[in-house]
Amino acid sequence: MTSSNLVRQQARILQDQFKELYGQNARVYCAPGRVNLIGEHTDYNDGFVMPVAMDMYTWVAAAPREDTQVNVYSRNLSAHAEMDLRDTNLHVRGHWSAYVLGVAASLRLAGQKVCGANLLVEGKVPIGAGLSSSASVEVAAGFALLAASGLSVNPVELATICQRAENEFAGARCGIMDQMIACCGHANYALMLDCRSLEFQLLPLFPDAQFVVCNSMVKHDHAASGYNARRADCETATRILSGEIPGVRALRDLTLMDLERFSQSLTEVVYRRTRHVVSENARVIAARSALERGDPELFGRLMRESHRSLRDDYEVSCPEVDMLVELACEQDGVYGSRITGGGFGGCTISLVPRSQVEEFGRSLAQRYEQATGKKSDIYIFQASDGAREALQ
Ligand code: GLA
Repeated sequence: MTSSNLVRQQARILQDQFKELYGQNARVYCAPGRVNLIGEHTDYNDGFVMPVAMDMYTWVAAAPREDTQVNVYSRNLSAHAEMDLRDTNLHVRGHWSAYVLGVAASLRLAGQKVCGANLLVEGKVPIGAGLSSSASVEVAAGFALLAASGLSVNPVELATICQRAENEFAGARCGIMDQMIACCGHANYALMLDCRSLEFQLLPLFPDAQFVVCNSMVKHDHAASGYNARRADCETATRILSGEIPGVRALRDLTLMDLERFSQSLTEVVYRRTRHVVSENARVIAARSALERGDPELFGRLMRESHRSLRDDYEVSCPEVDMLVELACEQDGVYGSRITGGGFGGCTISLVPRSQVEEFGRSLAQRYEQATGKKSDIYIFQASDGAREALQ
């Protein structure tokens, strides 16, 4: 079945379930998960990222209500939550509903007069795999709430509203990458995003090589605290270096030469964190020309360098993910591989000649299991569009 037929089929199933649950007809919206090709932990440093929207979605069926009540039922958790939109003191931190109700609250805070709604949510993006299941829930819910109220905002604004929901209501200090790609993704293209201006460029993917995602199935408990600690290190570096070098507002404004000149002002750890961010930004810019020139060899080399930098300087990898990267790079013809997403477990992304993709996936999963005793999931995905109504 083609990808768009699958989307329609899934949407109809959700519509039927909605009718059973709420006794109303619903419209269905979806927003994709993502994989980042390169540019990790650069978004909250005003830097560059290069994500792709995957054809794995969170689905939200929605119908408006006459009052100011928002009801949400999660098919994944078989759980219900609700809020009154007039409630200005929403407490949902640490609760699954933050990703939906927090978006409703954030829309209101942004001045969007959304009305009450009944919602049914089903997420098909693997949770905790670094494929941005949370942003896909937020963006699908935001899109659905706006549409049910007869409103719309531009995709970049929706992304910032959803990021605010995650920062303030879910309590995760994420950057803007995941919400931007869930809103602005484009079938068959990667998005090169400048996280300062939020301007982006669509880049066609390689005709003869394909990106393949492998889930290590490892998820570390300290992922959230580790992420926030890395952000804090970057803030420390920015504070110190902006006092030394005029014009530095974020690590995005530094060159490696600046960093070397002032390395004595930083602790060894903060120096390494900064070196990762500065070198990673340069790699994203080089990766753009690799895509533009159709040079998978160069792209693959940059992926391998990115992984080393994330492993050694930023320290967000783990032994299982390192093993996946190593096993991928050992295979004939593979251009490169790296950890993707926030880290501390999760997925790798590898660049593989198109003709070898199936064999690559089979053999990687087998070797990973031999080496670690763990199963993995391989995702051979299509680059998809961002949030949209599923049945039009
Ligand atoms: C998580 C965050 C993103 C980004 C990545 C790391 O996915 O949500 O904003 O910081 O980690 O690149």
